[in-house]
Formats: sequence, structure tokens, C-alpha cells
Amino acid sequence: MNGRELLRSMKDAGSPRGMRTVRSAWRRRRTDERDLPARGAERARVPGAVSGAEPLAGGGIVRFARAELRVWVAVGGAVFWGWDGDGPSPSYALSGDPPEPDPRALLEPDKEGGWRVVSERVTVTVSRHGAVEVATPGGVVLRRELPPRWWEPVDGNGPARWAQRAEVAADARFFGLGGRASGPRLREGVYRLWNTDPGGAFGPGDDPLYITMPVQLVVADAGTHLAFYDNSWDGRVVLKEGEEGAGSGHDRPGTSEVRMDGGPLRCWVLLGTPARVLHGWTALTGVPAPPPSWALGPQHARWGFGSAEEVRRIVAGYRERGLPLSALHLDIDHYDRHQVFTVDRRNFPDLPALAKELRAQGVRLVSIVDPAVKAAPGNETYESGSAAGAFVRDARGDDVRGEVWPGECVYPDFTDPAVREWWGGLYEERLEQGFSGVWHDMNEPVSFAPFGDKTLPRSARHALDGRGGDHREAHNVYGLTMAAAGYEGLRRLRPEERPFLFSRSGWAGMQRYGGTWSGDVATDWPGLRASLSLVLGLGLCGVPYSGPDVGGFTGAPTPELYLRWYQLGSCLPLFRTHAAIDAGRREPWEFGDEVLGHARAALLERERLGPYFATLAQLARLTGAPYVRPVWWGAPEDRALRDCEDAFLLGDSLLVAPVLEAGTERRAVRLPRGRWYDTATGTAYEGPGQILLDAPLSRIPVLARAGAVIPVLGATDSDGAVGGIELEVWRPAPGRTGGGLVVRDPGDGWADPEVERYTSRLVGDEVVVERVTDDGVAPPELPVRVRG
Ligand code: GLC
Repeated sequence: MNGRELLRSMKDAGSPRGMRTVRSAWRRRRTDERDLPARGAERARVPGAVSGAEPLAGGGIVRFARAELRVWVAVGGAVFWGWDGDGPSPSYALSGDPPEPDPRALLEPDKEGGWRVVSERVTVTVSRHGAVEVATPGGVVLRRELPPRWWEPVDGNGPARWAQRAEVAADARFFGLGGRASGPRLREGVYRLWNTDPGGAFGPGDDPLYITMPVQLVVADAGTHLAFYDNSWDGRVVLKEGEEGAGSGHDRPGTSEVRMDGGPLRCWVLLGTPARVLHGWTALTGVPAPPPSWALGPQHARWGFGSAEEVRRIVAGYRERGLPLSALHLDIDHYDRHQVFTVDRRNFPDLPALAKELRAQGVRLVSIVDPAVKAAPGNETYESGSAAGAFVRDARGDDVRGEVWPGECVYPDFTDPAVREWWGGLYEERLEQGFSGVWHDMNEPVSFAPFGDKTLPRSARHALDGRGGDHREAHNVYGLTMAAAGYEGLRRLRPEERPFLFSRSGWAGMQRYGGTWSGDVATDWPGLRASLSLVLGLGLCGVPYSGPDVGGFTGAPTPELYLRWYQLGSCLPLFRTHAAIDAGRREPWEFGDEVLGHARAALLERERLGPYFATLAQLARLTGAPYVRPVWWGAPEDRALRDCEDAFLLGDSLLVAPVLEAGTERRAVRLPRGRWYDTATGTAYEGPGQILLDAPLSRIPVLARAGAVIPVLGATDSDGAVGGIELEVWRPAPGRTGGGLVVRDPGDGWADPEVERYTSRLVGDEVVVERVTDDGVAPPELPVRVRG
């Protein structure tokens, strides 16, 4: 404990909660001192010289003096390599069995004395000392892993630490590693792999946050690739961007060094266009669960509504002002003394009736679900969990206790399949209370502490699906396995509806169960920027559905900041206002009439784009492409786009340029190639290049790609009836064609809707739109409205 920690712990010890957190932090430290012996002497190891190889399906085993490497190419072109017998399974990231090896990929000796696997899509070369190079079929090297290093305990007790350094092109840019506030482009720095509640509010300088993943997407002139070190242990990634020698031939490559405290040394590499890479990634780790349609609408949350009356007042506030609202979220204050799966019956006397009443107005209720269970006799969840042996224990077999909102708590071990099933069954209570979806929180997992790590002891035992192990390995998959429990539970309990679940913490593969949100982002302009960074970075890690607390979690935003956040949020998949119990208001009418008017415009535009969002949700499921994509998505070779961090593509058709700075009335926008229309003025601009656009308080710049076919809701008629779905078509540039995909809203069930394909072109001055089917082309059944 350092001086600052000591001071904090003395301050905290002044209240009953504070005393408990101090005690709990000490207990945590003592448990680890007792059960996790300090590392003794270590011996370093490298693979040594190559000694032989053995071909196997898709590749083979290459042997070295002191290690061996399994390397193969899968059908579809994914590369796997693993040292010392580490195969792809078991893995919490993979959604099922690993893909089959490509029978046509062959292991052969290379001229340098090493070996290589040659396949149609990729060539993998293993050097004499164990470097692994991944190259395109044309021979362009995308990634070169140097020989790994291990540090093994001399007495054989405990895991081997390892380090693996890779080189990438000098011009390469790094993205991903889960949700990082300082991105989306990850600059030189150390990025920790340990899911962490930053405590209080975070900004761009805070790292790590709630979701870390050993997944990096690397974009360079030579091509795009994704590397995934499938290992959930605590680790660090040290990134350095390269430097080009201005034609001198002395480029300094970019480097990524991954250092892990234990666990397998194995990696997947996928290459191709960004779209191909994400498709491959979600084929490997699972398709993103599409949210039910209502979860694409505007949502409102707050910690501290405090009563059913206040909930009614808020919903009425939306209704009276003609503001659409799709869902309202209840935070821990609706629980009985913060205990999960209970209700404060004094302030929320009849939740099912409230849910029904709101539902009749088109508003669903969503419930927060925290994993920690109050360790108190009489708490039903505690009692049934104790009877089932569901809680995480220490090496002596005692329940591990921590301190969370309800007080002293125990933690379900979600890495145990029986515990997942038990926990999933508890969601019946939430459904009976009338909730339509769940919001998983505090699942890093958190145990409040004035010093040390705010989580469980590293020595805490976990089932790890039969393998057994401790928190060092289970920590990062705690949120992921909780999401699995909740998702499967909801599917069993209400099979006819797609679950709505989003989770603060998670790991590679979490998209199988739902989305996430940005957590407790600070209410200031850097916080606004950080929220975009998180959404973009997570999308590139395969998690397409997320969004920030609009307005920021803490404090009180200025009307301008609130509005800019609102305008950005309205273009992100999860569009939700939320704030802390002691923060200022977040309802759009609390910031004056001007803000209300502009917020209403953003809300109505979101509603109008509903069919487009529904399409993007389905396309994310089918292709892995996130709704929100960096502007380089379709043109990764454009270096200026690679460095553009303040705008994004919403699907293929729209480019959104949010305002991220105070006092902005105009902003620069970098365009990918082709013609783009400012959707507010209809003015056409030609990319690539940078333009200046008006960004008055009333709106943020949104551009449409020439030729785009976008499904939207038609205008409300004079009787107030909402219009049906229409195709908004942006005039193609002369000599160019365009198009778009449309997937009709499948509602909240499991229908597998058809993907409709449209093309657009100019014939003379006229815009012709056609639907392309297996039988040829046909005029669209949907009304078409041409713009631009
Ligand atoms: C955490 C969550 C926040 C929530 C609060 C109370 O800080 O990130 O969204 O409001 O807990 O449950």
C-alpha cells in the first residue's frame, strides 16, 4: 500500500461501508499471500534451433531444440499457431469447434532451412529459430512473430510467463484490444489485459477499462489482418507504431509485444479486407446476437429514479413532448437494498403493473443485473446459490467475499456450467416483474477496495468448465460467462423472443450473447471523444452493439455538450441516456427549448432511420460487419483515412461527422473516394479529400454516399399515421452505379429475414432503382424517393 492508498483507506474507514471495504481489501491481500506463493527463481527458454517437422492436416508440427510449434491453415484461410502442444481448444472465445484444417494447405521445407505452410489464401513461414511469418499469397508479409520467450519456475510450481513480439509494416496502424478510451487508433503505449472498473468516471487517459481483449486489428498499405492471442490471463500489450525511412530503405517496423503471466501461447491470424477479416472473426467466435427491434430505439436510464412515480413522470415527459421512447432502464435503486433479483416494494409496489402500463405506451422496462449476491441469510439467491455450491471459493473451500453495493457479497462462478444454468433460471423473476431485457453490470467483477485490485483474489478458485483453475485465468472471462448464463437463461425462459442483454464487462466472443455500453464515462468533451473510441474499437473486435451514457455518467453537462452527445448517440447502435445518482438531469427537456428542439430532431431522424438500423443489425449477424465502422473500412489503403478518428461510417451508406469540441460551428470532414452528399443541404462533394462543413448547434454533419439505397420510414401523414418503409436513394454520380441492402425488421422473434439487394444507376438524367433477385432484376416493391 502506498501513501495515497493508506490515506484513502483511512478516510474510507470512517463509515461502515468504508470499514468493510478496507477489511475486504485486507482479506483479499491475505488470501493471496496465503494461497498464491510468490514466484521463485525462473529459467528463461527460447525454442532453439529447428530439428524437424511432421506434416498434419492443414500444416503440421515443427520441432525445435526446446519447443514445438503446431501450425495450420483452416478452411477459409484462418491461420492457427500454438506452442508446446497448445491447440485451439479449450477456448472461451471460440463459439464451437475450431474450423477444419484446409486439406489443400501443405507443409514443406523452405530454402532457408525452415518450413512453410502454403495455401490458397495465405503463406505461413516458420524460420529456423521459430519466427512465424504470415504473408499474402503474393508474398507480402503482414506480420512477423519473432521466436517467443518463456520464463518458467525452476521448481516447476506455477505457470510459465511468456512474451511474444511481432513486427508489422512501418506504416501500419493498430486498433482493437477491446474497449480503449484513447483510440480508436492505438498509439505507442502499454495496454493492459485485465478487465477493470476504473472506479469513478474515466476519460481518454484511463486504461485498462471494463473490456480488454488480446485482439488486434492491424491496417497497413500491404493489407489488413487481425491477430488474436487466445489467452485470458493477465497481460500487457506494448505497441509501437513504426517509422518510414522516407525511401531510404530504413523503415522501422511497428511492433506489438504481448506479455502474459501464464496460459497458452497460441494465436489466430486472419487476413483480407476489413470486411473479410471481421467475417472470419465472427465465424470463429460467434455471430453477433441481433438485439430485438425495440432495442434499436431511444432508451432512457438513470441511477436513482427512486420510485414508480418518477418513472411515470419521465415517460409522460417524453410522451407529452412528442419524443419517442423505446425503453426505460431501472438501476440498482429499484432493488430491495441493492440486492439482485429483489424489488423495493415500498417505492415500486407493483412492478408488473407498471411494466404493463408502460408497455401499452410502447415503452419496455430493462433491468440492471449485478452478479454479486448479498451474503445474508434470508436472501433467496444467496441461499439457493449456497445450497448449489454456486459461489467462488478460496483454496481452503471458503466462499470468497467482497464488498459491492448491497454490502458483503459472494460471487457466482460462471465458469461452472451448472452455475450458469442455475443463474440463468433466476431471470424468471425478472421476466415476472415485467422486464423485457437485462443490463449486466459490475461484472469485471468488482469488489470495492481502497487499495489493491478492485476484484477477487487472484488465488480464488474457479471451475473453468471442468479444468479447474484460479482467478488469474477466470477473471477476464467472468463477464463473458455471466453473459452466457443470462442469454441462455432468457432463451430457455422465453424462447420466442430474442434476448436483450448488454454487459459492462466481457471478452472475445461476447457478441454471441449481446452488446455492451461504455460504462462510467466522464462528463466532459474528452469523455465524449472516448465514447466514440470505445464503440469503434469494440466493433473491430466483433462487438457491434454498443453506445455511451449520453450526456456522460457524472456531473452536469453544459447544454451544448449534452446536445452534441445526444446527436452522436442518436447515430450509435445503443442510444441511451444514463447518469449517476448524484449527477444532473439527462432528459432532453432539461436544457432549455433550443436544445429540446434539436434533440427532438435527432430523435426523429433516428426513428426515420429505424429500417436502416434494423438492416445493420441483421448485416452484423450475417457478416460480422459492425454498424459503426472507421472511415477507412472500405479503403484501408488510404492513409489519411486511417488516421481519421473523429468521424465514422454508419453502414455502407452514411458518413457521420460528430462534433467533439466546444464552440464548433464548422468542422473538417475527411471523405473516402467517390461522391458524397451533405444530407442537410444536398450539396455534392467529391472524395478523397477534406472538406469543411457547417455544423450548427442544430445538427452534426451526415453525408450520404452517391448511389446509396437506404431504407427509411416514410413521412407521417396528416392523420399522424407513421409512414411505411421507403427507399431513400442518393443520386449516383454520372457513370457510376450504386446500391444497398435492405433487411426488413423481423420484430422480436427468430424469423430469418431475407436480404433484399437493390442497385441504382443513372439513365440519362433519371435515377433507375432495381431489385436484384435470383431470377434477374425487377422494379422495387417499395416506394422510392430520390435525393441529391
Ligand atoms: C456502475 C455502472 C453504472 C450504474 C451504477 C449503479 O457504476 O457502470 O451504469 O449506474 O453502477 O448501478
